[in-house]
Amino acid sequence: MHSAPTWDPQQYLRHTSHRTRPFLDLLARLPELPTAGPDEPPRIADLGCGPGNVTALLADRWPTAHITGFDSSPEMLAKAADHAGPTPGGGRLDFKPADATHWTPDETFDLIVSNAALQWVPNHPESFPAWIDALRPGGTLAFQVPGNFTSPSHALLGELCDTPQWRDRLGDHGRRFVHILDPADYLIRLTDLGCEADAWETTYSQLLQGEDPVLDWVKGTALRPVLTELADDPAAAADFLAEYRDLLRKAYPPGPHGTVFPFRRIFALAVKTG
Ligand SMILES: C[S@@+](CC[C@H](N)C(=O)[O-])C[C@H]1O[C@@H](n2cnc3c(N)ncnc32)[C@H](O)[C@@H]1O
Repeated sequence: MHSAPTWDPQQYLRHTSHRTRPFLDLLARLPELPTAGPDEPPRIADLGCGPGNVTALLADRWPTAHITGFDSSPEMLAKAADHAGPTPGGGRLDFKPADATHWTPDETFDLIVSNAALQWVPNHPESFPAWIDALRPGGTLAFQVPGNFTSPSHALLGELCDTPQWRDRLGDHGRRFVHILDPADYLIRLTDLGCEADAWETTYSQLLQGEDPVLDWVKGTALRPVLTELADDPAAAADFLAEYRDLLRKAYPPGPHGTVFPFRRIFALAVKTG
């Protein structure tokens, strides 16, 4: 059993515009919410809310909504607290600890959304029935997960962790987040549950700036388990990062306009019809 990785909100927020764009694309596809009545605000859950900046965007679309961000990382929840409180449109934002692996909603939601988090949650499709049960009729479950685990950035991380030098110490830490399905599989599972479902994928050709920008990117996400494991041994962490950086430099050489870092993402949404 692994300990949970320690998250670093500042590092994660270094690539905010690239990381936010898929959420905005998901948001653009979401239908209007059912809500119980004219005087009852929409109820929204954001699972794996991270530092809360994406959660706050939900209040732009649904200004009167009561929105709760759930996350298992104390570091992320501490940062998300910056966004907590009344929203300009008369709604409310709050944040609560929860482990998505065991999260069973104890109230009714109009929308359950998750951005770039369920890849960390093994067997998350097994929770779909409970999450859809918790939706009001006409409510929506929607999520986005990275789909780039065979790309060089992630394959090289997995391979490096698996070399004799690192295997005993890091084992599968480079592959801890590979819990996603293809869009077609999400589509079938969600349709099986009686929903009107949609699933698709997009590869963003991201142009990153600065030295070793791909390393800087993964330090905020996929490298968290490795960095957590080596946190008490800075020399080993520096050695690992130097080796990984050299591999990334070859895989993603800088070009005249920056470093192109293609990133596949998978989207799914399901509207509860019954
Ligand atoms: C890549 S961040 C995404 C944060 C945010 N949704 C966003 O789009 O900016 C992944 C988040 O998932 C959270 N997470 C990972 N495993 C989780 C779990 N089992 N339960 C709840 N949150 C989890 C992490 O703590 C982290 O905040």
